[in-house]
Amino acid sequence: MEELNQVKQQIKTFVKDCNDPRSLELFDLLSEGKMLRSKLILKIAGVSDETIKLCAVVEMIQSASLLHDDVIDEADTRRGKPSINALFDNKTSIMFGDILYSKAFTQLTQMDKEVAYTIANSVTLLSIGELHDVELTNSFNSSYDKYLNMIYNKTASLIEASAKAAAIISGKDKEAFALYGKNLGLAFQMIDDILDITQDSATLGKPAMLDFVEGKVTIPYLLLWERLDSEDKIKLESMYKVPLDKDQASWIKTKMNDTQALVDSIAQAQSIGTEAVEAISSENNTELSGIMMAMIQREF
Ligand code: FPP
Ligand code: MG
Repeated sequence: MEELNQVKQQIKTFVKDCNDPRSLELFDLLSEGKMLRSKLILKIAGVSDETIKLCAVVEMIQSASLLHDDVIDEADTRRGKPSINALFDNKTSIMFGDILYSKAFTQLTQMDKEVAYTIANSVTLLSIGELHDVELTNSFNSSYDKYLNMIYNKTASLIEASAKAAAIISGKDKEAFALYGKNLGLAFQMIDDILDITQDSATLGKPAMLDFVEGKVTIPYLLLWERLDSEDKIKLESMYKVPLDKDQASWIKTKMNDTQALVDSIAQAQSIGTEAVEAISSENNTELSGIMMAMIQREF
C-alpha cells in the first residue's frame, strides 16, 4: 500500500525534526506493525497531507505505548524482533517512548481542535486501560464488566478515536464511525484473546495459553468460570498464574469445549464485529466492512 509508505516517511520526518541522531537510531530499530489504525483512517478519510499527518501521529502514539508496555510486561521481543528494553534497558525504552509521544502531541496541537481533542482524550483512556490491565492481573478477576471496560480503554479507545477523527476530517458521521472503531477494537482484542487458546505456539510466535499464566483472565476463561461448578471453579483458580503442564492445558480446553465457553466467546466477538459493520452500513463502504468481516470470519 503506497499510502502506508507515505505514513512511514511522515513519521521519520517527525522524528528527524527532533534533531537527535540517537532518537533516529532507536527509531530504525523499531519493528513495523500492521498499521491497522492508519489503514482505517485512510479508508475513511482518503489520502491527503492532513490524513497522512494524523496517521503518523496515531502510529507514534501507538509505538510509544508499546515501548512503555514492553517495560511494564518485561517483554524481550516485539513482533519477533528484540524489544528496545531488551536491546538496551528500561530507561531507554521509556524515554524514547516519551520522545515519540510528546512529538506526536506537538503535531496534534497543529491540527483541527476537535481532531486533537479526540486523539488526546483517547490516550488518557489508553493509559487508564493499561493501569487497570496491570491491576487485573494481581488476582483472579471473574468480572466480565471489568474485562470489557479494560479492553475498551486499552485497545478500542485509540481505534475509536482514529475512526472518529478521520470522520471529522472528511465530514462524515463521526458518531457512526466512532462506534465502528470502538466495536472493531473490542472484537479485535477478544479475537486476540481467543487465539491465545486455540492456536499453537508456532503460529502465535509465543507459548500458547500464555495469557492465563501471565494473570490475564480473558473472555473464554470468564465464560468458563461462570459455567463451572464450585469444585471446578476452585480447580481453575488453582491453575491461575502458574506454568500449565500438558494435562492442565488440556483440562482447560476440554472444559471450554464442554461448557461452550469457547464457541460462545467466538460468537460474542463476531456479534460485536457485526455491530461495528452495522454502525456504518449506510456509508456503503465495502472496504471497511471487509476489514471487519475478514477479522471475525477466520479459523479459530
Ligand atoms: C499492549 O497490551 C498495550 C497497549 C495496547 C496499551 C499500552 C498503553 C500504555 C503503556 C499507556 C499509554 C502511554 C503512552 C506513552 C501513549 P498487551 O501487553 O496486552 O499486548 P502485547 O501482547 O502487544 O504486548
Ligand atoms: Mg505487552
